[in-house]
Amino acid sequence: MLKVGVLVSGNGTNLQAIIDASENRLINAKVVLVLSDNKQAYALKRAKEHKIESIFVDAKDATNHENNIDMLFSQAGVDLIVGAGYMRILSAKFIKKWYSRLINIHPSLLPSFKGLDAQKQALSYGVKLAGCTTHFMDEKTDHGPIILQAAIRVYDYTREMLAEQILKVEHQLLPRSIDLFEQGRIIINGRKTKILPGDSWQGLYDYHDVFYSVGY
Ligand code: GRF
Repeated sequence: MLKVGVLVSGNGTNLQAIIDASENRLINAKVVLVLSDNKQAYALKRAKEHKIESIFVDAKDATNHENNIDMLFSQAGVDLIVGAGYMRILSAKFIKKWYSRLINIHPSLLPSFKGLDAQKQALSYGVKLAGCTTHFMDEKTDHGPIILQAAIRVYDYTREMLAEQILKVEHQLLPRSIDLFEQGRIIINGRKTKILPGDSWQGLYDYHDVFYSVGY
């Protein structure tokens, strides 16, 4: 079973989606360690409720924070690190060490709207389609090879309404990306990935007004 380490900073609904998919045996993966740079993160409570080891790793000193994260994930023997609402930028050194075993989810159709509050950026820009992206992390923010994307229509939404709609899709895309990784179906070639043929999750969910990339 794939051992997953998760980096969080906040509410942790994406973490919850991974835990649920794991407990429901939708993915052959288990969250073994949750690390947060925020002591108050509700994500830490979620982990505890599911008896998953979770640790607040102080980030006052960024280098120290990162060394600790590296050490803790290494000691836990994680096969994959997932950024699930983790609000820090990791150094090139860390990325290099974990590259191809380090994925992130971002609430926009990359390369649009990188960085903070992608949902607000998308609404301000007036886009008609929004969505989310999972990707391997590289040394640039919200930049590495894309794994999966999904698009939704933008109606007359507030920022919160759009964020909520995108989150529903994030909660599908992130566990599926972990599943594809576990199945060995993601081939990285430069900045592109190829998803090898196999099963599909389309039809698993009752949230149908979504356009999914190949591999979903
Ligand atoms: C998600 O929208 C994620 O894509 C972004 O931050 C949010 C985290 O939500 N990076 P949660 O903590 O998983 O609920």
